[in-house]
Amino acid sequence: MEAETIENEDELETFRVEYLGRKRGKVGALFDRIPELDPEERPAFGKAVNALKEDAQAKLDAARERLQQEKRAAGPDLDLTLPGRPPMPAGSLHPLRETLGEVSGIFERFGFSVAEGPEIEDDWHNFGALNFPPDHPARDMQDTFFLKKHGYKKHEDAPTGDDSPQQRSSENQDVVLRTHTSPMQIRVMETDEPPFRVVVPGRVYRNEALSYKSYCLFYQVEGLYVDEGVSMGHLKQTLSLFARSFFGEAVETRFRPSYFPFTEPSAEMDIWWDAGAGMGGQWMEILGCGMVHPHVLESADVDPERYTGYAFGMGIDRVTMLRHDVTDIRTLYENDVRFLRQF
Ligand code: DAH
Repeated sequence: MEAETIENEDELETFRVEYLGRKRGKVGALFDRIPELDPEERPAFGKAVNALKEDAQAKLDAARERLQQEKRAAGPDLDLTLPGRPPMPAGSLHPLRETLGEVSGIFERFGFSVAEGPEIEDDWHNFGALNFPPDHPARDMQDTFFLKKHGYKKHEDAPTGDDSPQQRSSENQDVVLRTHTSPMQIRVMETDEPPFRVVVPGRVYRNEALSYKSYCLFYQVEGLYVDEGVSMGHLKQTLSLFARSFFGEAVETRFRPSYFPFTEPSAEMDIWWDAGAGMGGQWMEILGCGMVHPHVLESADVDPERYTGYAFGMGIDRVTMLRHDVTDIRTLYENDVRFLRQF
């Protein structure tokens, strides 16, 4: 036994079984022979075998302790020369999502907060409160997906008599997919007191003919700033600063007069697009804007004698196309990874 060497876990176990094992261990075998001895020989023999057992146990414990120490000293079971695993493909934000976040972020730095609202809207928030009169042609500016249409009688079908426009509009329970983010102007003003300074990123829907520049859904960022003494100058200054922050100092912008029922005066802002539709460049409209119409402030219980405000609605798809020279809006919705991987 003295001569045995124990160099690893296997040898440790072999030693234990050979000497101290319950069934076939050598020490146990010696104890088993005690009954065969003369009675007077038994105590001395028993004592010797006991000493042997203790020696074996001591040797076993010492070896176990030594092996454990060696193992700890060797560090973790790790082969640093193995090749690494291939990394998981990281993926990235969709270019629309990225623009949406960046645009909101720029306005946040200007001091705007960010709000989001429902994509399913009632007629009041999407149209009525925004100063679209019932049956007014301005509603046709935005081809609407109706989810529920009742209580609303088209002009031709309306019975004559007490069917005044006011009455028709109050009965009007249409539910629509929002055609723009402007209803959030009303929702924000309804739930709080002025001043308001907020941007609203979100998805909107239009029942339009599809083309390289229109799709049936798209993204907008709405902006609203209402306080005492807000002017058209503030509006132009803020939007110009936005354009430089987003597109770079060299960006060319222009404002054109326009019409929206919910702003007066109204304007549109264009950006010069070098890659414009292979035509050697063109002006591209990226947003509508204007001074919030007093009727809109009234709809949301804000006093138009005391407060003025500006608003804008930016087309995020347009901005994304300008930035990445994408020439067909539809590619932004096809989820073709060969297209998306480029961003
Ligand atoms: N809601 C308009 C649209 O979708 C865009 C717009 C124009 C938003 C003028 C505004 C605004 O806030 O002031 O066509």
